[in-house]
Amino acid sequence: MKGVRTVSFENGFKGWRNAARVLLAHKIEPSDLEWQERGKGHSSALLWGNEEIDWPAMAGSSPQLVLNVSRRWLEMAEAVSYHRNPEKWQLLYNLIWRLTYENPKLMDLSIDDQVQAFLSMEHGVRRDAHKAKAFVRFRKIESEEGDIYCAWHEPENPLLRYVAPFFKDRFSVMKWTILTPDESVHWDLKSLHWGPGCAQGQGPQNDSLEELWGCYYKSIFNPARVKIKAMKAEMPRKYWHTMPETRLIEELIFESDQRVEAMIRAAPPSAEAYLPESEDLVSLKTALPGCRACELCAKATQGVFGMGHPNAKLMLVGEQPGEVEDQTGLPFQGPAGQILDEALAEASIDRDTIYLTNAVKAYKHRIEGKRRIHEKPSPREVGTCKAWLKSELKAVRPEVVVCLGLTAALAVLGQSVRLMDVKNKVLEVGDNWKVIVTHHPAHILRIQDPDEKDLAREELETALKLARSLAGMTRNIT
Ligand code: URA
Repeated sequence: MKGVRTVSFENGFKGWRNAARVLLAHKIEPSDLEWQERGKGHSSALLWGNEEIDWPAMAGSSPQLVLNVSRRWLEMAEAVSYHRNPEKWQLLYNLIWRLTYENPKLMDLSIDDQVQAFLSMEHGVRRDAHKAKAFVRFRKIESEEGDIYCAWHEPENPLLRYVAPFFKDRFSVMKWTILTPDESVHWDLKSLHWGPGCAQGQGPQNDSLEELWGCYYKSIFNPARVKIKAMKAEMPRKYWHTMPETRLIEELIFESDQRVEAMIRAAPPSAEAYLPESEDLVSLKTALPGCRACELCAKATQGVFGMGHPNAKLMLVGEQPGEVEDQTGLPFQGPAGQILDEALAEASIDRDTIYLTNAVKAYKHRIEGKRRIHEKPSPREVGTCKAWLKSELKAVRPEVVVCLGLTAALAVLGQSVRLMDVKNKVLEVGDNWKVIVTHHPAHILRIQDPDEKDLAREELETALKLARSLAGMTRNIT
């Protein structure tokens, strides 16, 4: 072990990536390092007396480094980072080293042991994540804080942080908790809160309920399970022990059906089922007219998909199409679009360089006589339509997203905000994009007081200027 130094880091994949970037730039070879995630397992520095490498101090003097890995590889590496095998960090550094300094086409060598280990871990975590999304069953608990949905799940890998964003998105309008043996997470409609795990193997048998649920609330916990046939066919045997004894199964199936139904009723339906297999912008736009996740598309003249540069650094999200957009099939064409165009010009942003879309893709309205009157979409409708917006975000991958109004903010941030709390702020959403929330142009149109109107207009322009600069866009209108 002589000469091997310990790389100590925290914050999972993000922390590993920061350390790896510095160490790669300094050309520190994989065999000289041992990776140690703080708080996980025993520190080899303590066990073997290895020297710790002070990589944060080296960061300031890092030589230039061009990383030879694709975004796809990084996504796969992130999945690997949730594998239970502690060797994963070493494996990831070995691979990124070889990709950078030895063979950029290494991943094509499927017979390579390290490539094989990487692919098998990635596949394992993805399959495990799929099971978590499919098998987590919530039970409704009535508490003083209102209804809370609770589930207990035992994944093969400690991947709760990997799948939590899925549940946050899917069930953003209800409070829920997921308990696993490794850790637990609670969504309170605003943010995710992390807590300890519940002891492994502690099944939801009667005498352990109090203790299990006691992790969070003074109540009981007993996960509901449904679709026993499908579950037995598809669910690995290791999950079965989390089920109550046989004599309780009938009763539980009955209860769980009701509870899962209640959960499904309370959660918005999702447009996800209507997404095409290939989620590029052209396929998405082609598939939109077929969406029947809610009634809005069928009632409107047409669904209105986003438009603009397919790789824009800046994406603008509005509320929903208006009367003119409903007729033309393009976003921001009517009076609100005109206000937006003026603000874009003031901020020196060319419409063709950005991507424009809406939180809800169809014009919600009511009929009064011969007129169609705009109606604001409900949070439930925003939740239902969100799958389209998410796919657009995934396809375009902007640096910055500007939410025009609070409906857009709800869709992008997954929670309601007040403009006065978020105005002029740059919000970071995970690793992905920066978010700015500002006025909706239609709101500016409706303001009667001239001073207030001017102020809101200026604030919209300021937000767009800030977005342009954050996105690293050069001025292209003079
Ligand atoms: N308002 C919006 O939010 N979007 C449009 O496309 C038009 C008006």
